[in-house]
Amino acid sequence: MSEYMIEIEGLQKQFGKIEAVKDVSLKVEKGKIYGLLGPNGAGKSTTIRMICGVITPSGGQASVNGHDVYTETDKIKDSIGYMSQKFSIYEDLTVYENMRFFSGIYSVKGSERKKRIDELIEMADLSEKRHVQAKFLSGGWKQRLALCCALIHKPQILILDEPTAGVDPVSRRVFWKMIYSLAAQGITILVTTHYMDEAESCDEISFIFEGRTIEWGTPKELIEKNGYDNLEDVFIGYVEKMTGEKVISKFDKVSFLHGEEV
Ligand SMILES: Nc1ncnc2c1ncn2[C@@H]1O[C@H](COP(=O)(O)OP(=O)(O)O)[C@@H](O)[C@H]1O
Ligand SMILES: [Mg+2]
Repeated sequence: MSEYMIEIEGLQKQFGKIEAVKDVSLKVEKGKIYGLLGPNGAGKSTTIRMICGVITPSGGQASVNGHDVYTETDKIKDSIGYMSQKFSIYEDLTVYENMRFFSGIYSVKGSERKKRIDELIEMADLSEKRHVQAKFLSGGWKQRLALCCALIHKPQILILDEPTAGVDPVSRRVFWKMIYSLAAQGITILVTTHYMDEAESCDEISFIFEGRTIEWGTPKELIEKNGYDNLEDVFIGYVEKMTGEKVISKFDKVSFLHGEEV
């Protein structure tokens, strides 16, 4: 059995001729926050869908909480809470009804269900919104509700795919406070993000480009190794190195709005 909560080695996924994931590896220890970084289309969400057991890999190895992604997807489902990029909640259901619905999916029943929903509503400060339909919630509140739904069955691993995309800074801060406190309780967290301040808050990160793991380590290690003073420059440096193009010089001429520069 793996000593890691998530262990992936040389994972691959093809969709017909498209090689979405070519060679992704990572190891996540219990109670750590692990950040998966990479430009759009790099293969982050596809990797996550394989970890969650939603799609079967085309090659490579992966285990989640010691369960194999090829043969033990049912056990994986019980171990993980998954929050997708689009916050999979039901717009026409209230906050409470959404949580009740997800309890049903995960067979959380009776007094345990009531206790769990009350605890999560308290954690996310959602009590005033308990009977509000999800469609009337702002992005930040929807995100908190989606987090609660992902936690309803007390998963040991929480997988978050761009959980803070399009959410205001205050909600982002509150959300991360909840994530830290979940990690401190021993929950293992795998998160993708485009926000470099969030990436810097992770215990460890890896960078994926065109379906391959390029580099991994603590944020501090990657910053020092690449000779920058922040992670944003490291990220841009990787993209420039991999594409052979300068990100900035590509956009040298931005004069089309007002004609010639004066
Ligand atoms: N079901 C699918 N069928 C075909 N191509 C897909 C499918 N899912 C993802 N892809 C392709 O795989 C690549 C990686 O996508 P994705 O994993 O969503 O990247 P990311 O999450 O890093 O933005 C993209 O080129 C995307 O178009
Ligand atoms: Mg994605």
